Amino acid sequence: MRLRNVRNASDLIDNNSLWVVPNPETMNGKWADIFDNDHPIHLEIGCGKGKFLMEMAQTNPDVNFIGIEKFDSVIVRALQKLIKKPLDNVRLLRTDAAFLTSIFATGEISCIYLNFSDPWPKPSHFRRRLTSMQYLERYRFVLTPQSHIFVKTDNFPLFAFSMMSSVNSGLIINRISLDLHRDMDIANIETEFEARFSKQGKPIYYIDAQY
Ligand SMILES: C[S@@+](CC[C@H](N)C(=O)[O-])C[C@H]1O[C@@H](n2cnc3c(N)ncnc32)[C@H](O)[C@@H]1O
Repeated sequence: MRLRNVRNASDLIDNNSLWVVPNPETMNGKWADIFDNDHPIHLEIGCGKGKFLMEMAQTNPDVNFIGIEKFDSVIVRALQKLIKKPLDNVRLLRTDAAFLTSIFATGEISCIYLNFSDPWPKPSHFRRRLTSMQYLERYRFVLTPQSHIFVKTDNFPLFAFSMMSSVNSGLIINRISLDLHRDMDIANIETEFEARFSKQGKPIYYIDAQY
């Protein structure tokens, strides 16, 4: 998701280092200091414009949330939400998830959300999928034992791939849904993409996997 013509996005990001943490690798092992508490830290990778992150943080004040997003023009939308409604338990990182193991110490993270990750349909690009085994190994490194990874997607090939790579990486599949909005017993906060796809009548696929 790339938004065009967001004027001064990088300036706004640079001027709000309280919310978009600069040089995040310097905080490796010290993220509890940023939040000034030892609450668990949950990550959303590819947080987009931040709707899910903000609503999760408001609903769960005893959890710290970090949103990772690689594009200035997208993360600036999440930043604007945070400036409008400051939440002490939220921070943003403008970076690529490939650097996760430099940014967080082992066991520093308690949960990962992968919401509507880019599907990368070409086989030659499968390694870029955020549920490839390469990424799952990075997640294993930063997560505490028995942590959950939650996946939501509208894309069946990505869903099937994510199931396979999770099993091949030794994760336990706790629960899946082939239509999350039909299975309403699962607590759910909608993301921007989810709202768009469910309006189109598409089913939302869901995985709750655990190390
Ligand atoms: C399809 S959008 C979904 C946004 C949001 N999670 C939602 O559900 O509305 C995927 C987002 O992930 C971001 N992204 C993809 N690969 C990433 C990576 N390796 N590191 C950080 N962000 C990434 C993209 O820039 C994009 O904003």
